[in-house]
Amino acid sequence: MNNKKLYPDSSVEISGIMATQYEKLLNILTLGTYSIFISHVIKKMKIRPDDKIIDFGAGNGYNACKMRKYLSDEGEITGLDIGEDMIKTFRKKCAGYKNVRIVKRRIDIPLPEEYTGKFDRAFISFVLHGLPHDSRLKVIENASKALKEGGNFFILDYNEFKIEEIPFYKRKVFEFIECPYAFGYIKHDWKKILSENGFGNFEEHFYFLNMVRLLRATKIK
Ligand SMILES: C[S@@+](CC[C@H](N)C(=O)[O-])C[C@H]1O[C@@H](n2cnc3c(N)ncnc32)[C@H](O)[C@@H]1O
Repeated sequence: MNNKKLYPDSSVEISGIMATQYEKLLNILTLGTYSIFISHVIKKMKIRPDDKIIDFGAGNGYNACKMRKYLSDEGEITGLDIGEDMIKTFRKKCAGYKNVRIVKRRIDIPLPEEYTGKFDRAFISFVLHGLPHDSRLKVIENASKALKEGGNFFILDYNEFKIEEIPFYKRKVFEFIECPYAFGYIKHDWKKILSENGFGNFEEHFYFLNMVRLLRATKIK
C-alpha cells in the first residue's frame, strides 16, 4: 500500500486505524455526539429523493451512508477520495447500495468532463482546512463545475475565527490537533471567496461552541 502523502503537512490525508475507525475517534473527541451532529448536518442539506450528490474527500463512507437514507433508487452519491484505507472502508460500509459509489480521484485537480453540470448537491466535510490554499480554490472550481445551476455546495469545516481571540482551552485543542494549513483556513472570508467563484444565497449553521460551521452556498452562475 502506498501511503505517501500528497501534501506532507496535511492532517486530512488519513490512513491506517485512523481511517477505518475515523468516526469512532471523532465520537470520542466530541464526547459521544458525533453521530447526532452529522445527522443534524445532513438534515440541513434538505436532500431530495432523486438528488445526485458529489462528496469531495468522502472518507470512509460514514456520511454517505447517512445521506443515502434520504435517496430513492433514482438518487446517487459519488464520493471522491485518494486514501486507500478510506476507500476500502467506504466500499465495505456502502456495499449493497447500488446508487453509492466511491472513485479514487484527487479533488484538487480538474475533474473530467463527465462530472460537469451533473450534480444537485456537493458536500465537503473536514477536508478544505487541511489543504494548501491554492488547492482549496481548485476544489471550489471543481464543485462549481460539477454542480447544476441552482445546485448547492455544503462546506462542513471550521468556522472563521482569530486564534488569539478564542478561549485558552479551545485554542489548545485546535493547536494540538491541527496542521499548519488549518491556521490559514480559519482566517479567510469564505463567503467572499465563494461569491468570487459564482456562489451566493448563503446559509450558515454553527456547532461545537461556534468552532464548526456548515456553510451552504448556491451556484448562481
Ligand atoms: C478528515 S477526512 C474527512 C472524511 C469525510 N469527509 C468525513 O467527514 O468523514 C479527509 C478526507 O479527505 C481525503 N483527501 C485529502 N486530500 C485529498 C485530495 N487531494 N483528493 C481527494 N481526497 C482527499 C482523505 O483521504 C480523507 O478521506
